[in-house]
Amino acid sequence: MRVVVGLLLLLLALCGSGAQGEGGGLGQVGEISEFQETAPRDAAEESAESTTKQTTPDIWAEVRALRDMVVELKVFVQLLQRENSDQEMRLTATESKTTDLEKENADLQTRLSSSESELLLSKSRIDQLERENAVQATDLTSLGTRLTATESKSSDLEKENAVQATDLISLGTRLTATESKTSDLEKENADLQTRLSSSESELLLSKSRIDQLERENAERPKVAFYTALTEGFIGPYNTDITLTFSKVFTNIGNAYNPATGFFTAPVKGVYYLQFTVCGNLTGLMGVQLYKNKQRMMYNGEWKEASHLKYMTNSAVLELMAGDEIHLVLPSSYAIYNNGDNHSTFSGSLLFTL
Ligand SMILES: *[C@@H]1O[C@H](CO)[C@@H](O)[C@H](O)[C@H]1NC(C)=O
Ligand SMILES: *[C@@H]1O[C@H](CO)[C@@H](O)[C@H](O)[C@H]1NC(C)=O
Repeated sequence: MRVVVGLLLLLLALCGSGAQGEGGGLGQVGEISEFQETAPRDAAEESAESTTKQTTPDIWAEVRALRDMVVELKVFVQLLQRENSDQEMRLTATESKTTDLEKENADLQTRLSSSESELLLSKSRIDQLERENAVQATDLTSLGTRLTATESKSSDLEKENAVQATDLISLGTRLTATESKTSDLEKENADLQTRLSSSESELLLSKSRIDQLERENAERPKVAFYTALTEGFIGPYNTDITLTFSKVFTNIGNAYNPATGFFTAPVKGVYYLQFTVCGNLTGLMGVQLYKNKQRMMYNGEWKEASHLKYMTNSAVLELMAGDEIHLVLPSSYAIYNNGDNHSTFSGSLLFTL
């Protein structure tokens, strides 16, 4: 409103100066009076009245000028009213828009608060993540160190591996040689197995043979005797006498009879027989060997005095079971024995037939 009043004052001042120069007419007095009744009394009118008093002869001209001015002012006021209405409309629209903007602002405030909360949370999260990151960085450093150590160890292991690979190749070569040797040995072993089997078979046969021989040996009659002549001088007599070797050392099979001086063959076989007779008198000494009633040997000689004399002989005879062997002292012959066992008679079965 102050702007409008200011503008009015300015117009009045302009019109006043214009009216003084122009002079003005009387044709529109009614409109001037109408204007005087309705228009408010303000500083502009007072100013106009004072002017009128000073210039009375030009009063109608002034009035006309004023009337024109009032019309212009009315038009101007209408313009201003329209402008005011427009401005009010624009104000209303602006207020409505302001309300909307306030709502929007409130929403934005709310969203801003929530965003700030989120931002705080995010910052807190970022701090936490930074701390975690720092820890992870430390871990990473430690992992790096460990990785370096592991890489170094890997390198060592690779070297070791290379050495082992070389060893493996050498072992492979040796293995091949050993396998070849093993194959040879297996063949040899197979041969030996075969030979062993045959040997075992032979061994079984041999064992069987040995058993048989042992049985035969066990069944084979055992015959052996060794005797000495009855102590003292035997002979000389007028007739032949059978000598009895009564001192028995050995008599396996009891085939020799010390009471009669006869040896009887228990089985058919080949027998070995031996005698030794001693002489201790000046005169004839000797002995005869009989198989059954048949003389097989006659040994005798002259003996000088003052020393002992011996006579030894042996015979290998094939005898039937029941055949008898004995020694005979011929008539006029003498032999001798004492505790030193000078005269002896012995025999044994060599083998059966
Ligand atoms: C031979 O016989 C005589 C007895 O006539 C005796 O004294 C002597 O000791 C005997 N000799 C031996 C070596 O026995
Ligand atoms: C002669 O034979 C008998 C057993 O009849 C024996 O005791 C003795 O010692 C033998 N004599 C000698 C000198 O060996």
